[in-house]
Amino acid sequence: MGEVDPAFFQDPEHRPRIVFTEAERIPLIDLSPILSSGNVSAVEGLVSEIRKACKEWGFFQVINHGVPLEKRQRIEAAARKFFAQSLEDKRKVRRNEKEVLGYYETEHTKNVRDWKEVFDFTIEEPTFVPASHEPDDKEVTEWINQWPEYPPEIREACQEYAQEMVKLAYKSMELVAQSLGLPADSFRGFFKDQTSFIRLNHYPPCPDPELALGVGRHKDGGALTILAQDDVGGLEVKRKTDGEWVRVKPTPNAYIINVGDIVQVWSNDEYESVEHRAMVNSERERFSIPFFFNPAHYTMVKPLEELTNEQNPAKYWAYNWGKFITNRKRSNFQKLNVENIQIYHFRI
Ligand code: OGA
Ligand code: NI
Repeated sequence: MGEVDPAFFQDPEHRPRIVFTEAERIPLIDLSPILSSGNVSAVEGLVSEIRKACKEWGFFQVINHGVPLEKRQRIEAAARKFFAQSLEDKRKVRRNEKEVLGYYETEHTKNVRDWKEVFDFTIEEPTFVPASHEPDDKEVTEWINQWPEYPPEIREACQEYAQEMVKLAYKSMELVAQSLGLPADSFRGFFKDQTSFIRLNHYPPCPDPELALGVGRHKDGGALTILAQDDVGGLEVKRKTDGEWVRVKPTPNAYIINVGDIVQVWSNDEYESVEHRAMVNSERERFSIPFFFNPAHYTMVKPLEELTNEQNPAKYWAYNWGKFITNRKRSNFQKLNVENIQIYHFRI
């Protein structure tokens, strides 16, 4: 990527500010009480920290999460090697309208091009999804991983890392369930045929970091996202109290977890999926690895009955997760002239 093409320009009101707020941090949560599994009051304390973080920020960072550092370093090193190849080599595993996973360098968020390149792979092999976003098309298909030849260790590094993310995701979902006053395993069943995937993000240095974004402002559509960011920094979260964009300062070996749209719907707006974006800079390339924890494609997403009643009726109609995600994938692939699908379209 050389000179900045106007396709990357954000509308003036969405352009990043180079001087940013880092004053208040998203909560930092120590997960050691659940690893040592014993002390009931320590777990209770943890659950109330999760509740507070989900209510106030929709985001938190975790430490002592149990993911071995060496697994993270291995996938990060493989990602670096993969993206350092020529465009021609990377395009050997390029995504297309049929194969939605693999390498991709022209993703759009809200119809503006992102200053990034990505490599996506799915966790379950096979991962079943609807064949199209058309509501009446009942055909189911598979997402197929396209593994690069180089570096040779990338496949194993990705698969091993994915197993760690799945474990952490289940633990985090249990805490979220408890924080909503539900039994820990309340959400487990939704993830049996999960459509979770992992994205390797590479944000090259950008000559015009005040005009473009690495990822434009968006909310994550799934249940939870677990993000590993490197030491460069660039992730910004929209603070709920005042709408200010707050930079998330990198903490070594921590993971950033946020609740996505599905938790917002399941919790009937008790928790909100919060907008975030990633800035780029003119000096240093940046890498990040989000894990998107997503339920089975056939899941009908709707507010949980345990969390609704006459005083607090369901705020959303049920929607099909598979159709939602295929719709999103399509709009991120093409620049369409319409807004992509959002949960507020299902608001009652
Ligand atoms: C995403 C995302 C942030 C980052 O890929 O959904 O929000 O810091 N990424 O890479
Ligand atoms: Ni995101």
